[in-house]
Amino acid sequence: MGLGWQVVRGGLIGLGLPLGITSWPGSYCDTENGCCYPTTGKPAANFGIHGLWPNFNNGSYPSDCDPNNHYNEAEISDLISCMQKEWPSLSCPSCNGSTFWAHEWNKHGTCSESVLDQHAYFESALNLKADIVLLQILENAGIS
Ligand SMILES: *[C@@H]1O[C@H](CO)[C@@H](O)[C@H](O)[C@H]1NC(C)=O
Ligand SMILES: *[C@@H]1O[C@H](CO)[C@@H](O)[C@H](O)[C@H]1NC(C)=O
Repeated sequence: MGLGWQVVRGGLIGLGLPLGITSWPGSYCDTENGCCYPTTGKPAANFGIHGLWPNFNNGSYPSDCDPNNHYNEAEISDLISCMQKEWPSLSCPSCNGSTFWAHEWNKHGTCSESVLDQHAYFESALNLKADIVLLQILENAGIS
């Protein structure tokens, strides 16, 4: 999503960390086969986060950077209810998201662990989404 990219690039200058973010529309599974809404309910209407990952300048990205830094849901328990709405897993069979978030952390999150710990990684993605939503509202209203 091009719009997301601009916010991401601008918003992350402070972090000094180039990050990519991908998303899908909240109604994705209404029209696509092979996807299932989570057991915890249909995601937010606007769009859901798919992933957040650090990029190299050449466009490729590192992955699975630290096999010893395991996903630990206890560290992000305060974010879970928000993530269920904003960062749902659309894989089948329906699940509660834990497997998906663990995958995202292990593959991508560990590559920014020097800057973002587990809580900060998930919280940053949620904050970025909020920024993108705000920007879309302003754009739709003709203010940008
Ligand atoms: C991109 O840059 C990274 C880090 O410098 C390097 O490890 C990787 O091989 C590069 N990838 C390509 C496709 O050039
Ligand atoms: C999701 O289900 C798994 C396996 O039953 C459980 O360990 C995990 O705590 C659950 N996560 C949430 C967010 O409910």
